[in-house]
Amino acid sequence: MSESISSIQTFDHDVVVIGAGGAGLRAAIECSSHGLDTAVVCKSLLGKAHTVMAEGGAAAALGHTDPRDNWKVHFRDTMRGGKFLNHWRMAELHARCSSECIRELEEWGAVFDRNPDGYINQRSFGGHRYSRLAHTGDRTGLEILRTLQDHGVHQGIHVHQECTALRLLKESDRISGVFGYWRDSGRFVVFRAKAVVMATGGAGKCWRITSNSWEYTGDGMEMAYTAGAELIDMEFTQFHPTGMVWPLSVRGILVTEGVRGEGGILLNSDGERFMFRYTPDRFRDETAASPEEAHRWLEGDKSARRPPELLTRDVVAKAILEEVDVGHGTPHGGAFLDIAGQRDAELIKRKLPSMYHQFRELAEVDITKERMEVGPTLHYMMGGIAVDGETQMTAVPGLFACGECTGGMHGANRLGGNSLSDLLVFGWLAGKGVGVYVGGLADSPQVLSDQVEKARRDAVAPLNRDDGANPYLVHEELQDIMNKDCNIVRSGDGLERAIAELNKLKEKASRIQVSGASQYNPAWHEALSLRSMIVVAEAVVRAALVRQESRGAHTRLDFEGECDEWGKLNVVVRKKSDGSMSVNKVERGTPPDHLAVIAYSSLDSLEGGVHV
Ligand code: FUM
Repeated sequence: MSESISSIQTFDHDVVVIGAGGAGLRAAIECSSHGLDTAVVCKSLLGKAHTVMAEGGAAAALGHTDPRDNWKVHFRDTMRGGKFLNHWRMAELHARCSSECIRELEEWGAVFDRNPDGYINQRSFGGHRYSRLAHTGDRTGLEILRTLQDHGVHQGIHVHQECTALRLLKESDRISGVFGYWRDSGRFVVFRAKAVVMATGGAGKCWRITSNSWEYTGDGMEMAYTAGAELIDMEFTQFHPTGMVWPLSVRGILVTEGVRGEGGILLNSDGERFMFRYTPDRFRDETAASPEEAHRWLEGDKSARRPPELLTRDVVAKAILEEVDVGHGTPHGGAFLDIAGQRDAELIKRKLPSMYHQFRELAEVDITKERMEVGPTLHYMMGGIAVDGETQMTAVPGLFACGECTGGMHGANRLGGNSLSDLLVFGWLAGKGVGVYVGGLADSPQVLSDQVEKARRDAVAPLNRDDGANPYLVHEELQDIMNKDCNIVRSGDGLERAIAELNKLKEKASRIQVSGASQYNPAWHEALSLRSMIVVAEAVVRAALVRQESRGAHTRLDFEGECDEWGKLNVVVRKKSDGSMSVNKVERGTPPDHLAVIAYSSLDSLEGGVHV
C-alpha cells in the first residue's frame, strides 16, 4: 500500500461478512465451519438487527401442526404469494431446506414454543395454506438471532462492531477486501479478504413510515451495484399491513402478523370486518367467505378456510389504504386490529407478550381489552442484489450475498415468515459457496492503494466543504419523494416526477457539508449513508417506472392488474461505465417442468406429508 494510506488500520481475514443479522451470522458460521478465518463487520452492536422485526415466526413445512403440510405446498404458496415471479430454484431450495435449518437451529439451542405433544408449535400466517410458522411467542427473530450469535461466537468468528463498510475493494474483477470506518473514532479501516458476503438487509429508511431502524440504508445493495453486481426486482417493496399509527412518535413500528395469525381481525371505522370484500380471485378457493367460516377455522375446524385477514401482505395493505381513502379509516388514519374480542387475555399475553407490552408502554392501550390502530409500514424489500441461486455469488467473483439485500427469492411479494427461513437457508448456502470459491483460489487477491485512497477521499469530502446542504434535510426530502410518489400505489406521472426530483436531490447530495471532525459525528454518518439511500431509491423508482403492470407489492394506477408478458420478465438494474444507471427488462426463461407442475397444481395432489 502507498505511504499516504499506510497508517490505515488493516485486518486480514479469509472472508468478511458485512452485516450481523440472521443471514450474515448464518453465513459466517458456515464459512467458519469450512475452516476459513471469518469476520463479521456490523454497523451496530452485535445482536441489533432487523431480524428481530420478524417477530411472528419462521416458515418451514415441518408438518407438526398440520400433517398435510410438506415442502411442495410451501413452495406452491411461496410462488403464488410472489405472483409467480420468484426465482424458481431459490424458491425450491428455500422450501426444501427450511425445515432442516429450523431443526439445526434447535440443536444449537433455539427454544421454540411447543405443541401439547412436545413438537415445535406452528402458527398461521398470511398466504401459508397451513399453520407453518415455528415461533417463540412474538419474539422469534430475537430468539434466532440470539442462537446464531452464541453459536457463531463460540465457533470463533471475529466480530468488528460499530464499523460501517463503505466500499468493496477489487483486484481487477475479483474481490480483495472492504474499506470502512469506525463509527466512534471516525478512523478508517481496511479488511483484506478473499471473499465478501453482503448481508446488510434492506433500505427502509428511504421511506418515512417504516419498521426499519436507522441502520437500514441500503449500503450493501449500493456497494455491490457500484462494484459491478446487478440489482433485480427493485420495484417490489413490501408494506407490512400492520404498523403502529399512533402516537406519531412510534408510527411505523411493527405489529406482528402473529396477531392476525392468533385470530386478530381488522375492522374499519364503521366496525365492519372489511377484508371479506377484498379476496382476490386467485385466493378465493382458500379464503373463508363469511365470519362464521372464519370463526370455525379459528376453532380448529380443518374443513374451514383461512380468514381473509390472512391474505397476503400486498392485498391486506392495499385494502387498509383503500378503507382510509374512502373515509372509513380510524381517527389516526389506519384500521382497527382487534384480538381482545377473539381471544382471552391469558392467551394474548402468552402468545403475544411483546405486542402486549409495546401497546401498553407506547400507546397506553391494553390489547387484551382494547383495539389497536394499525396501518401499512415499509417493512421489507423483495428486490436486491442478483445472485446465483445455488451458490449466492453475484456477478462479481468473490462477492456473495444473502438475506434481504438479495432479490429473486420472493418475487413480487414475500410471505410473512419466509424471511427468517430465507436467511437460514441462503446464509448457509452463501457460506458453502464461499468455501468452494476460496478453496479454488490459486493466490490471494491484493488490495490496491489507489482504490483505498479514492474511497478515503470520497468519505471525507463532506467534512472538507465550507458550505453545502444539510444531510438531515436531504434525507427528509428523500423520504418525502418516496412517500409521495413511490409508495404502496404508484403512477407513471408520479414516478417521472420522483426521478426528476431525485436527480435534483443527487446534485444537492453531492454538495453536502458536515461541520466538525470525523469523531463521534452523526451528521457525517448520515451524509455517508445518504449515498446508498439515493442509489437504492433511484433503482426502485426507475424499476417501478419500467414495470407497466400491477403485480404483488407493485401497484400502478395506470396499469391495472397482472399482465402475462410481464410475468416472463425481471427488471434488472446495472451501473454503466459512465456512472449512470441502466434499467433493463430481462427474460426469465421457462420454469423447470417439475416445479411448474407443483406451482400450478391443485392442492389435493400435493397434500399428505410428502417430504421428498
Ligand atoms: O409480522 C411479523 O412478525 C413479521 C414477519 C416477517 O416479516 O417475516
